[in-house]
Amino acid sequence: MVSSRMIREKEFSLSDSGTVLVVDDDESTRSMIIDALQDSKISPVFEAENGIEALEIFQNHPCDLIISDIKMPGMSGIDLLNEIMKINPAIHMILITGFPTLDLSVSAIKTGAADFIAKPFNIDELLYKVNLYLREKKMLSDDLKRDRIDSLRLRDKISELSKKSYIYDRIESIREGNEQVFEDMVDLALKLVNGESCAILLYDAGNDRFEPKVVKSSIHELYSHVILPSLNSVFREAVRKKEPILMNTHGHTQMVNSLICVPLKIRNTAFGVMTLSRKRNGIEFTQKDLNFIQSLTRRASLNLENKILYESTYSSIMDTFYSLAASIQARDYYTEEHSIRVTDLAVRTAKVIGIPQHDIESLKIAGMLHDIGKISVPDQILLKKDGLSEDEFSVIKGHCATGEMILKPVLLFEQESRIIRSHHERWDGRGYPDGLAGCEIPLNARILTVVDSFDAMTNNRPYRRAMKTGEAVEELERNVDKQFDKIIVEAFLKIL
Ligand SMILES: [Fe+2]
Repeated sequence: MVSSRMIREKEFSLSDSGTVLVVDDDESTRSMIIDALQDSKISPVFEAENGIEALEIFQNHPCDLIISDIKMPGMSGIDLLNEIMKINPAIHMILITGFPTLDLSVSAIKTGAADFIAKPFNIDELLYKVNLYLREKKMLSDDLKRDRIDSLRLRDKISELSKKSYIYDRIESIREGNEQVFEDMVDLALKLVNGESCAILLYDAGNDRFEPKVVKSSIHELYSHVILPSLNSVFREAVRKKEPILMNTHGHTQMVNSLICVPLKIRNTAFGVMTLSRKRNGIEFTQKDLNFIQSLTRRASLNLENKILYESTYSSIMDTFYSLAASIQARDYYTEEHSIRVTDLAVRTAKVIGIPQHDIESLKIAGMLHDIGKISVPDQILLKKDGLSEDEFSVIKGHCATGEMILKPVLLFEQESRIIRSHHERWDGRGYPDGLAGCEIPLNARILTVVDSFDAMTNNRPYRRAMKTGEAVEELERNVDKQFDKIIVEAFLKIL
């Protein structure tokens, strides 16, 4: 019987992640749990469809953790728990039921269940618990494994250590994807202390105000609009003293009866707070919960520091560039409208071609700033109504290299500076400033060349009147493989 529904090792090898036995008479639930475990690299995983089968597997293959449904034919989850505890009381067992009652959960926990989950459950929540219990299990020494674990304090300590190692690992993995850091921190905090609501608020010292960065709550509207604003004085105190706050009101009339507020610091300056609230039948946050949240914010501080510095540096650089661009616009109104239209056309063309999102972001910046180098072109040339002399034209040509020079010192804009340098290159190699040809010219620069030329042709300039759209299209088509890349002209004509 056991071998028929055997261990699913599939492509996974026996690892030291811990062995899990999943027991449920409902095959779809069982499969969902097993797939999620294996996706999280937890293996090997054993499965059984009832208590009797599970017991048989357990006797032949000792497991580190059992996840079991309660209501099953043959032997129930509670009976299975009783039998397992007789064999090895140190085993963690998570019970799942579709019919939760307080009596049932209390008796399950008393019998020795590590945890109790009600259906329908969130698979991430289950994975989080599995992760913690497996870590806890690994931390136990062999001596302890032999003994019955009857010391609650020891168990508590172990659970604390495993939570801390979980925080450490999670933060390490969060660090890889910088964008999500705030959201991930909030999710992690909610799980760690079983909070009801959590928010990260950034402190705007100039206006003495808190700006919500991320807010997650099961009572979202009320939390965002009523509860958070009412707690501003608490947040202010946490930021001012740079100390965490744990507040329990012991009352049932307040909207929040328990609150944690931890300041977020960069180089000993508090720049915001992470706060968690709960009102659940008198269950309050403890000092230990506060410690977990502090561990989390401390671990994440370097990560946050990078993120905040990146955001503020990036936005201040963009401000500088846009103000430079504005100074050309003040002299030549055409440039501003032109940059907006060119960016819009370039982005739409890029989407038709199907270029990656990060290249589109780059095109947005390059599009807005492509003529920034014209800042060095004197008014008498930039605004000249008659034809330009050769010397004057070479001054105009210099705007590509000047544009590149303006952006180049900022490493963040390396890609954009190359696009700007090459936006007047030609497919046949007869453009400027470098005479690049074909695919030597960056793709985004080739896109800009097409839409830039089209926009210039279809708008009035000081030295000539606008062409009609049809004429400009003919001009583009005539210059395919000479000035323009054919693929881009075709994509551009699709959006027109
Ligand atoms: Fe240009």
